[in-house]
Amino acid sequence: MGRIPEAIIEEVQNRSDIVEIISAYLPLKPAGKNYKALCPFHQEKTPSFMVSPERQIYNCFGCAEGGNVFSFLMKHEQLTFLEALKLLADKSGIRLPAEDTDRREEGKSLRLFKLNGLAADFFQSCLEKKEGEKALKYLRDRGLSGETVRKFRLGYALPSWDSLLQEAGRKGFPPNLLEEVGLVLRRRDKSGFYDRFRGRIIFPIFNVTGKIIGFGGRVLDDSSPKYMNSPETPLYHKSDNLYALNLAREHILKEGKVIIVEGYLDALTPYQEGVGNVVASLGTALSRGHLRCLRRYTREVVIVYDSDKAGVAATLRGLDLLVEEEFRVRVVSLPPGEDPDGFIREYGKEEFRRRVDKAPGLFDYKLDLLLSRYDPDSVEGKARVAREILPTIAKVRDAIEKRAYIKELATRLNLRGRITLGEEEILAELKKLRKGTKSSSSLPSREEGATLAERYLIQSLLQEEELVGEAKKLLATKDFHDRRYRRIAEALFKLEAAGKSTQAGEVISYLQDEELGATVARLAIDKNPYSSGAQALTECLKRIRKEEKKRSLKEFEEQIREAQVRGEEQSIRNLQLRYQALLNK
Ligand code: GTP
Ligand code: MN
Repeated sequence: MGRIPEAIIEEVQNRSDIVEIISAYLPLKPAGKNYKALCPFHQEKTPSFMVSPERQIYNCFGCAEGGNVFSFLMKHEQLTFLEALKLLADKSGIRLPAEDTDRREEGKSLRLFKLNGLAADFFQSCLEKKEGEKALKYLRDRGLSGETVRKFRLGYALPSWDSLLQEAGRKGFPPNLLEEVGLVLRRRDKSGFYDRFRGRIIFPIFNVTGKIIGFGGRVLDDSSPKYMNSPETPLYHKSDNLYALNLAREHILKEGKVIIVEGYLDALTPYQEGVGNVVASLGTALSRGHLRCLRRYTREVVIVYDSDKAGVAATLRGLDLLVEEEFRVRVVSLPPGEDPDGFIREYGKEEFRRRVDKAPGLFDYKLDLLLSRYDPDSVEGKARVAREILPTIAKVRDAIEKRAYIKELATRLNLRGRITLGEEEILAELKKLRKGTKSSSSLPSREEGATLAERYLIQSLLQEEELVGEAKKLLATKDFHDRRYRRIAEALFKLEAAGKSTQAGEVISYLQDEELGATVARLAIDKNPYSSGAQALTECLKRIRKEEKKRSLKEFEEQIREAQVRGEEQSIRNLQLRYQALLNK
């Protein structure tokens, strides 16, 4: 949104009171220093939606939505940032600079969303028409209820070359706009366009706020291709989006974990049967973008993919990324030929839940699979098992956990066969592997130790503005290990240095990041365990320094162990000296 001067955004924010704005939409009841209401972003019976006038933020403890006055309008009214800004500016009589290209761009994506909405409506209406009978029957035969069909806005694309093109035209959307969202294709002779989805069941793909960003279309028989999905468009990026997350997120928070499946039906069926914490990756490998979507809700992932797919090995390799990003990953194996949809229909949701609950961790799952695939009696078999599981172990950040896996691998490999492969050899191989892969910056999974201290420190800074200047003198942003907290610290320090307010609402505007904004809102409103900001500052700082030292010591220990394995006397002595020096500090 670059071209609107920051000062104007600040002024608009200063003149808008979040309580007044939100009151126009929800009945807010006073609760101590704050106000509360039933959350408009998820279903609930007791209010967990809080608004803080002091910090100018809102936060829901139930669904993790949160932000400032702009975020609220954007989510609740489905506005772009500029539209929210304009609305608030109008209210307080502030004039915004004239339209610029950004504004046109934002207006455009809004128009593309409208177009997708219109297409979804059209597809839905076709499902109810005579021509859609077969499609509706297909969905019924697959066990989907009318309610599910409505909830997921399933539809039908008529077997015609231009019915959507015509419909959209009537509503004032030109073909090139349809092309931009991937709804039509250009004729080969360039003489015009034709509908991409024809004679298919339509699954609209939603983003996390429930707006339609793309579509999937399934044939009604076993012709091929079975599915056709929207291409990459300005709205749809398939590796940044998980299907059904808009509906699943409150269940993910409630259950404390997410179940990831592959297909549309694999998400729909569990949801319909009451297992709500399910999202689908739609046949693409899990990416960092997907994890970014999930991180805000959980770090516990259960993978339920078809077990007989040719790509099991590749899939499993893909899961190492989750380990690297510090998700806890477990894997459910279904009977051959079953996918989650088929499994639930055959065995019921209780059995599905049971399998999810007792699913083994990725390491155990993989090790079992490899041991059954390669012959651990033979030297080559052992080597292959080790070679394929080492990359997973290498991604584990927790040193203790890592040691445990190495030990277990050694034990399991040496149960059979005469040649043994010891922990030292495994360590040495691991070491080689580590040289090849540079480890990316770490993100802690569980908030403990240092991370917790970082969290409380940031929380105190957000709750006591006067503390920020003091903190800035005592520590640098690089002292924060957690990427999120470091970025918030950066924002706080920058705002402070510029002589600006570091109120949570302002920090959220500064960050311009939905996920971080929600984190800031949550921290600003959370209960602080320290009695005073000064106390929080001293104690958290002490803890952060202590953890830093611990991390360095651990690092030395690891290096010493490895030097011992290699028998490098000189470097062992060297390392030990440095270790002692650090210990005495
Ligand atoms: P059903 O056969 O209806 O049960 O579909 P499913 O959802 O179980 O699909 P499947 O497990 O075969 O595939 C998983 C996902 O991969 C699908 O939901 C699609 O998103 C995607 N996919 C499957 N087949 C194709 C295809 O032929 N083309 C494309 N582009 N994507 C596909
Ligand atoms: Mn299926």
